[in-house]
Amino acid sequence: MSSHRPQQRLSTLDIRQRHEPGSLVVLTAYSTPMARLLDPHVDVLLVGDSLGMVLYGMPHTLAVSLDTMIAHGAAVVRGSQRACVVVDLPFASYQASPQQAFLAAARVLAESGAQAVKLEGGAEMAETIAFLIERGIPVMAHIGLMPQKVNALGGFKVQGKEEAGVAQVLRDADAVAAAGAFSVVLEGVLEPVARQVCEQLDIPVIGIGASPACAGQVLVTEDMLGLSGEQIPRFAQQYVRVDELIGAAAERFASEVRERRFPQARHCFGMAKE
Ligand code: KIV
Repeated sequence: MSSHRPQQRLSTLDIRQRHEPGSLVVLTAYSTPMARLLDPHVDVLLVGDSLGMVLYGMPHTLAVSLDTMIAHGAAVVRGSQRACVVVDLPFASYQASPQQAFLAAARVLAESGAQAVKLEGGAEMAETIAFLIERGIPVMAHIGLMPQKVNALGGFKVQGKEEAGVAQVLRDADAVAAAGAFSVVLEGVLEPVARQVCEQLDIPVIGIGASPACAGQVLVTEDMLGLSGEQIPRFAQQYVRVDELIGAAAERFASEVRERRFPQARHCFGMAKE
């Protein structure tokens, strides 16, 4: 019998144990090839509804459908072996009631093979988070700047600036942790507020535009790779310019075709070598 065992995925219970700052590495992934490349380096692959903007060129995430999230979630599960895969519940698939959220989240887990769902919302979603967890669906919460509320927030604006905003972020953090979320994404919040959230919660906080005090950090992979155009958010870090590599490759291909240097005999079937 072979002693070779398939690598085990990190579970939401494993993720729940990570509290030390810097102990959780999270990147977004939407496709099988990208998941394959990222999987050895990350703890969580997040199939974010940011794919609406990044892949489909939408102005915000509101028009992303549940079917789209399931298709991309399944693609990421197929491309990964080790990372815990978390799929975003898209706008209007869960806010109406805990029952609606359960039906959407159950489809995500059953049809994509992901380990957990993420949903946006704080105190107002606590009942729904508890409802899902009681029924076997692990939930990653998302508070602070919630992109699905872009119309109510008047844009993608940093949160926790004035007293009421700070109190709201702290209240939301407590509510999702008490409801049983295994971790929480904290997006676009003033650093001292983010630090306070990290200190007050006993679940890992995953920051994006938040604080170095967070247990985890998440980036949209395309921002990191230079695939999001010239303007990347201030909180993102570009580590490489893949856009330049793609442009250079396309330029070489175009000139080889136009100068009739491509294809050559080795690219063709049954063509006599010159
Ligand atoms: O949709 C997404 O990619 C996200 C991350 C930016 C946290 O929610």
